[in-house]
Amino acid sequence: MTTTHETPSTGGALTEDELKADLTVDQLKQLVGLVEYDEDGDVFPVTGWDAIVFCVGNATQAAHYYQSAWGMRLEAYSGPEHGNRDHKSFVLRSGSIRFVLNGAVDPDSPLVEHHRKHGDGVTDIALEVPDVDRCIAQARKAGARVVREAEDVTDEHGTVRIAAIATYGETIHTLVDRSRYDGPYLPGYVAVSSTYEARPGQPKRLFQALDHIVGNVELGHMDEWVGFYNRVMGFVNMAEFIGDDIATDYSALMSKVVANGNHRVKFPLNEPAIAKRKSQIDEYLEFYRGAGAQHLAVATNDILASVDALRANGVEFLNTPDSYYEDPELRARIGNVRVPIEELQKRGILVDRDEDGYLLQIFTKPLGDRPTVFFELIERHGSLGFGKGNFKALFEAIEREQDLRGNL
Ligand SMILES: [Fe+2]
Repeated sequence: MTTTHETPSTGGALTEDELKADLTVDQLKQLVGLVEYDEDGDVFPVTGWDAIVFCVGNATQAAHYYQSAWGMRLEAYSGPEHGNRDHKSFVLRSGSIRFVLNGAVDPDSPLVEHHRKHGDGVTDIALEVPDVDRCIAQARKAGARVVREAEDVTDEHGTVRIAAIATYGETIHTLVDRSRYDGPYLPGYVAVSSTYEARPGQPKRLFQALDHIVGNVELGHMDEWVGFYNRVMGFVNMAEFIGDDIATDYSALMSKVVANGNHRVKFPLNEPAIAKRKSQIDEYLEFYRGAGAQHLAVATNDILASVDALRANGVEFLNTPDSYYEDPELRARIGNVRVPIEELQKRGILVDRDEDGYLLQIFTKPLGDRPTVFFELIERHGSLGFGKGNFKALFEAIEREQDLRGNL
């Protein structure tokens, strides 16, 4: 059983969430680099993202922020009014992507300790899979830690088959088969809507899909986690960036990228590298108290309109110096893109080109109080990369912020 349509065995199919978001296969190919692949040889078939689950200090207010600043729509809720006395949980959506915000109500909730240690962050990168039991059997065989055994959870909307495995730090991957379920999220949640209304003229949504989630892991552990995704989940290696590729004078990191068969789910994995001063990855690891999700890249088909709306909503982005745009080498390398460079410069949007095409991208400042989790906006035009050519400019921008925080 699967919840994809048209050709369930290939990446050409659309998920229920993508159909609901009125996205087409061609749009997804452009937005997130979706590729066709043969699921038959896949030991751990993954359809796509199911939900990105956050633990936050105040879910009630975070739910407002992600609606008012990021244009997400509230669609489901679980809390004390519906028998969940432990925490409040708000389910928000933009395009095909579901975000879940959990905040403790009970002072003895496990979320309190999680938040004390890590601050606001991603606890669960939940994935939609066609066969939960097959995935759990494979995960166990390959040495993964199963943190929730496969079980059916049922309510009046049907049955969800669900399980979970541990990944880096205290992050988990919940595996969900919702093909027999038509409720608003999971059993225990009710459909809700919000009285919040977006500003007149704001785009219908500020992003359509999720492109990748970067994990930061401790020094010397990147290859171990690349191996985990290869061995346990059958993910393939997409690209490799090491050493000088992403070093500035002061800080450095190493990064490798793994992806599931259809490339909907892409995980760059970073570890700090030795340099003159503290790597931005070290700063993350220190303030997150260990490995965790660093940034979520959301895909938009109009990054200019999205950035304008987000700025108007109060979202802050990293600054890009004018010298970036005036660099003749960069101008020569990027060639023609869909808008004049001046339009990108005005907004601080970065551009990178590789053999397949180009991409536009921009990074926010940290979303919470700690210098940990942030968002990236990405608009792909054929490029399946991650902005390698921008890493130096990006890191220098991050270092300026790090320096201001006294952490460089
Ligand atoms: Fe990224």
